[in-house]
Amino acid sequence: MSPEYRGRRLLVLGAGKWHVPIYQKARQMNLHLVGADLSAAPGFYYCDESYALDLRDGREIARLARSCRAEGIVTNVDLAVPTVAQVAGELGLPAHSIELARLVTDKSAMRRRCRELGLGGPVSAEVRSLDEARQAACAIGFPCVVKPRDAWGSRGVTVVMGENGIEDAHREACRHSFSGGLLVEELMTGTESSVEGFVDGEGRLHILGICDKKKSDLPYRYDVELHYPSHFDPPQILAIREYVSALVRGFGIRMGLIHTELMVKGQDIKLIETAGRGCGGNVIGRLIPAITGLDVLGAWIRQALGERVTLDPFSSSHGLLKFIMVPAGRVRRIRGIDEAKHAEGIIDFSLDVREGDDVPPARNTSGRIGHLIAIGCTRDETDRRVARALERLHIEVEEAA
Ligand SMILES: Nc1ncnc2c1ncn2[C@@H]1O[C@H](COP(=O)(O)OP(=O)(O)OP(=O)(O)O)[C@@H](O)[C@H]1O
Ligand SMILES: [Mg+2]
Repeated sequence: MSPEYRGRRLLVLGAGKWHVPIYQKARQMNLHLVGADLSAAPGFYYCDESYALDLRDGREIARLARSCRAEGIVTNVDLAVPTVAQVAGELGLPAHSIELARLVTDKSAMRRRCRELGLGGPVSAEVRSLDEARQAACAIGFPCVVKPRDAWGSRGVTVVMGENGIEDAHREACRHSFSGGLLVEELMTGTESSVEGFVDGEGRLHILGICDKKKSDLPYRYDVELHYPSHFDPPQILAIREYVSALVRGFGIRMGLIHTELMVKGQDIKLIETAGRGCGGNVIGRLIPAITGLDVLGAWIRQALGERVTLDPFSSSHGLLKFIMVPAGRVRRIRGIDEAKHAEGIIDFSLDVREGDDVPPARNTSGRIGHLIAIGCTRDETDRRVARALERLHIEVEEAA
């Protein structure tokens, strides 16, 4: 990496495992790297300075940004997107506006804006109390979705099949909602997709990848597999591209990474949600750079430091992100980590449990115990590569009674 960035000062909010590629990229660029997270986290290892701070505390983060003389601020967690907007605004650094940061982190505001833009979406009602949730669900009809207005990682998201499921779903959504607000929504059906993009500083969108997904079993709805590029046909891809471009224009997104989740049915596209950051699960950190050959994180960081950045044209090979799941219970024996990690085509691997750990029942993304990313020339090849790696990994679990 050219020396022109040496010593430039970057503040990264969030230092969890999915942030590690960002820290590694910043290190490669020889930046002066300042990291913050609620407590010590893997990204701190790469930092020149690291701080344990609440990432939602705008005043503390602004104090840190001033004292470390940050020249750019980035995050890849929703929780810190509004903080980045506020602090960057105060310091005159490039970032989303406060209004946009709210639009991409508050699912209720997001739905409203989509309706104003004519971008459709599910019937959706904002509620707080159990009574309101029950009334909304009965009006919308079953099955429906109950979810927090402002959370992530599919926490508190439940598909409710009938009126007697409302109470549990309401409790679960309340437990994870920061504001206490919830949404009750019509259950959209179709194939889920997400679109990863980079906006060049002047509102021009570069779509870097479109996937199709395999989801968890009901009633929960976290991602289990993401395949890039997707299996959608050309008219569907066109409809997806047009939808996301209209959303980027309509929301006024001028810069940064986007991660837009969609429900696709024929050529009908509906928004699940859109984020003003990149996709987690190392999709933006490892998978997309590997299949496109683009230095996505470098471009994003340079943009945050105030540079005008455009991306080169690219063609894409295939990539598959698969999360590792086991039944709930106690992990008795793990074998074959190295064999799986080094299997052909595997470019990224994690396993977050050890022998003796208890694995709770999976209800959201935190129930996934690890992941693999494979790349290949075809979709079949990525499937085969992941299957072969998983054949080598043996995790024995004594299932909970
Ligand atoms: N109205 C809906 N219709 C159908 N499915 C929905 C609806 N709302 C949410 N879902 C499903 O629930 C999942 C999680 O919802 P959402 O993306 O809104 O929550 P989240 O906490 O931001 O999740 P994540 O961070 O995992 O994307 C979606 O990916 C989708 O599968
Ligand atoms: Mg989502």
